[in-house]
Amino acid sequence: MENFRFYVPTDVRFGKDRLKDELADVLNLYGKTVLLAYGGGSIKKNGLYDQVLSLMKDNQNKVVELSGIEPNPRVETVDRGIALCREHQVDVILAVGGGSTIDCTKVIAAGFYAEEPAWELVSKRKGFNGPALPLVTVLTLAATGSEMNGGAVITNLATNQKLGVGGPSVLPKVSFLDPQNTYTVPAYQTAAGSADILSHLFENYFKKTVGADVQDSVSEGLMRTVIKNCPTALKTPDDYDARANLMWASSLALNGLTGNGKSGAWSCHPMEHELSAFYDITHGIGLAILTPRWMKYVLSEETVSKFSQFAENVWGIKEQDEFVAAKKGIQAVYDFFKACGIPMTLPEVGINEEKLSLMAEQAVKHSTIETDAYMPLSKEDVVKIYQDCMTESSYY
Ligand code: NZQ
Ligand code: ZN
Repeated sequence: MENFRFYVPTDVRFGKDRLKDELADVLNLYGKTVLLAYGGGSIKKNGLYDQVLSLMKDNQNKVVELSGIEPNPRVETVDRGIALCREHQVDVILAVGGGSTIDCTKVIAAGFYAEEPAWELVSKRKGFNGPALPLVTVLTLAATGSEMNGGAVITNLATNQKLGVGGPSVLPKVSFLDPQNTYTVPAYQTAAGSADILSHLFENYFKKTVGADVQDSVSEGLMRTVIKNCPTALKTPDDYDARANLMWASSLALNGLTGNGKSGAWSCHPMEHELSAFYDITHGIGLAILTPRWMKYVLSEETVSKFSQFAENVWGIKEQDEFVAAKKGIQAVYDFFKACGIPMTLPEVGINEEKLSLMAEQAVKHSTIETDAYMPLSKEDVVKIYQDCMTESSYY
């Protein structure tokens, strides 16, 4: 295990119906003028918008609204948010939504104090260590972990770039995690969110660092939790415990608990971010398609022990031969995503061969997978992995 710092001071308010007694007091810690940020309208349909607005009205807040934050949030929306915050001298941002809404508000929070336009802030990838507006979140989708980390991923469709930035100053101050707020998440997004949580765990689990038993066994437990609860949530969307377990797994998968102390670059995320940047697909779906192909590609004498450990501890697969166990474990990942209703080839999400080479080039350029990944991946390797996603292939 390597040296690390673990400092995640987000105040998590987990559980049923806490907003009505706690939201006003939380906002009052920071001031009266609030930027209420949300996505394309799901919170209007499920009543959360009305609830939050009425609580803020009772609390005599001045509310400025930023609506229409896109999945894969656009840099133009960040700019719009910064302008609103400056115009109304906002004291605190309240993000009500999934990872896209929260990510967008993080860059607004830092951008409020910055001289550069938002895209410069993002593309410089310097890290947010300076001043930022305080951010409070009400999470509505279990997926990214953005509610309890300092990361943000912003898309610039004009340049086909989707880049991650972040830093301690944009870590949410308070996050309200009420599993009931995820009852209305559609099956497709529930499956995509679960795939994203699993991918965060896989990315941290399959690293070169050895001896990180705490991180790896916490990861295995969280993987089993998602594998158990996602099918329940798909079948019974208002099953409280299933939604609660997915929600808490989402936060713990990417708040440093399973990744700190293990170095190296992630593999599937850089490859997926290019798919989203060029084709605007759902992040978790892209990850689900890529992951078993990536696992198959990097399975070797060097990695087989870890994959057979994964097969046994996560899927209960025991075999004499480590390679057989490893392959069955990878197959189980594929079968699980497929059973969750995820389309498992790129053509099914509208991606053909045309830009595979360009996307592979960008994936290598925008990350360090060529040098620091679990198994380093060149542009040619990435093309092969993308190509394997074009059809349903062996050993699936
Ligand atoms: O926009 P609305 O109308 O709210 O609808 C959203 C959106 O269409 C809908 N939704 C959310 N909560 C709902 C709901 N529908 C009904 N009921 C609810 N309760 O779901 C759709 C997807 O929402 P989005 O916020 O885009 O999903 P997610 O949370 O998966 O966020 C994805 C974004 O986060 C980035 C991804 O790349 C992508 O841009 N990531 C952020 C990370 C981070 N900050 O740490 C790490 C991740 O790896 C990831 O890259
Ligand atoms: Zn992710």
